Amino acid sequence: MNQKKAGIAVFVSGGGTNLQALIDAEKDGIISSGTIKLVVSNNPNAYALERAKKAGIKSVVVTRKACGSAEAFEERLIEILKEEEIDLIILAGFMTILSADFTGKFRNRIINVHPSLIPSFCGKGMYGLKVHEAALEKGVKVTGATAHFVNEIPDGGEIILQKAVNVRVGDTPEKLQKRVMRQAEWIILPKAAELVCKELVKGEND
Ligand code: GAR
Repeated sequence: MNQKKAGIAVFVSGGGTNLQALIDAEKDGIISSGTIKLVVSNNPNAYALERAKKAGIKSVVVTRKACGSAEAFEERLIEILKEEEIDLIILAGFMTILSADFTGKFRNRIINVHPSLIPSFCGKGMYGLKVHEAALEKGVKVTGATAHFVNEIPDGGEIILQKAVNVRVGDTPEKLQKRVMRQAEWIILPKAAELVCKELVKGEND
């Protein structure tokens, strides 16, 4: 009998290294309860789209601009997710905040990776390099990454996994970002995806 897997859509906006970590984790069996069916980008130039293509994963570009409004953008996303029978959305460097209306429709079915130990250096306006700039500015000695569920509060949903990373003397935001990705994000995001997928398909494979 074929094992039922949760259908995953990965939302991206940029380089897609976290998408790559998810693709590799599925290939390596770290993600075994879910399968990446779709990559959604709100940036037509995102390198993540190349990664999807190389892995043979269907991708689609949806922009607010082309949709005309934030509401129409989210309606289009919902339409696509239904068409592709998606069970879990993974935000992997997706640089748009989803509305309470959208997150409410997918309660406990959207996860995000954030490049700090929440509740530090998170919330509206805290994304990408800005997070590491803020951590260095504050002088913290330990930072890290967090995988969490997404709700109506930016970076406010239930925490699934966290991993700490040491800050080193002489770090720049770029150096710290790379270390946090390598030592934390690329490890905890696939693990969190598997934990949630396993829960979603529980009972369906008995
Ligand atoms: C990652 O560091 C991710 O944690 C961060 O953007 C980067 C995307 O890189 N996300 C946020 O800051 C969300 N608040 P990637 O496109 O190479 O995965």
